[in-house]
Amino acid sequence: MSDVLDPPAAPAPGPRGRRDHGASPAVRIRDLVKTYGRLHAVDSLDLDVPAGGVFGLIGPNGAGKTTTMLAVVTLLTPDSGTVEVFGHDPVTEQREVRRVVGYMPDFFGLYDGLTCEEYLDFFAAAYGVDAETRRRQVRDLLELVEMSHKATTDVSGLSRGMQQRMSLARALVHDPDLLVLDEPASGLDPRARVELREIMLELSRQGHTVLVSSHILSELEEMCDRVGIIEAGRVLAQGTPEEIRTKLQTALTVTLRVLGGEEALAQASVIATQHGATALTRIGPALRFELAGSEEAAADVLAALVGAGVRVVDFREDRGGLERLFLSVTTGVVR
Ligand SMILES: Nc1ncnc2c1ncn2[C@@H]1O[C@H](COP(=O)(O)OP(=O)(O)OP(=O)(O)O)[C@@H](O)[C@H]1O
Ligand SMILES: [Mg+2]
Repeated sequence: MSDVLDPPAAPAPGPRGRRDHGASPAVRIRDLVKTYGRLHAVDSLDLDVPAGGVFGLIGPNGAGKTTTMLAVVTLLTPDSGTVEVFGHDPVTEQREVRRVVGYMPDFFGLYDGLTCEEYLDFFAAAYGVDAETRRRQVRDLLELVEMSHKATTDVSGLSRGMQQRMSLARALVHDPDLLVLDEPASGLDPRARVELREIMLELSRQGHTVLVSSHILSELEEMCDRVGIIEAGRVLAQGTPEEIRTKLQTALTVTLRVLGGEEALAQASVIATQHGATALTRIGPALRFELAGSEEAAADVLAALVGAGVRVVDFREDRGGLERLFLSVTTGVVR
């Protein structure tokens, strides 16, 4: 099985026990270069994933997401540059890195003749987890990914979405501090995507750091604290969506709904305009407008509306926010 990682030097800690990494970030990449012939798959890439939270690596097909992730999980040797995972170098300290990293690749290997529970047990054993702990862990992991009912089913006969779930469970068998998930939502139905998001948030609450890639923005929007926008082998912007927006000085789009019909909406338009709103448009019963600067500007408009007695029932940043950020940062280069 080609994607079995070597067993770590020491047994994994007890379930859900985070290791102490001091102040080290989960991932720190500087000037990473990986070429294939003349193609720069990754080109002077810098990335900072702090410990804790969910970090989304967003970029179009061929941007370099998988290549970057492979360098993090010790499966690719860069041409140059440095990668650190909780302070360890994936090239020279492979075992240390593998002990703390769980990787869910963007494909599912072939594992004929293994049931779901045997599959997880196999990988947990490969990581040196003792038999008794394994039994409990396999049961807990099957429950986490809602596959308990398939415990004795052959993994090779699972649907694609179910294989994705098993792949995620497998990435967790040694209780890694950093989870690297390459396009985990691909092949999942809408309900399974929502469940995946819940699982990621739960893992983050438990103290795991999650690094997740996708080329579908809406998939990451609701679960990432921070994002890195990658294109043509470079990270063009990274940080919280708010930080990126402030840095780029892109506009914030707000949708507003008020009680009181046309008159109230007209009053709201005037107040919003007085507080810097531009590009006002009617979208059905709602008003949409743009605001320059940070979320503070939005808070000021809302305070002014409420202060003037406008009965606001909905006031929210447009959910296309990340999409707009992405479009404003990237240029559409495909290699
Ligand atoms: N083993 C390889 N040999 C040759 N070229 C490669 C190899 N791996 C990646 N590349 C090239 O490097 C570039 C980056 O690929 P990568 O798989 O990292 O992109 P990605 O962002 O993961 O894309 P996708 O969204 O399609 O998964 C692409 O142009 C790809 O064709
Ligand atoms: Mg990829």
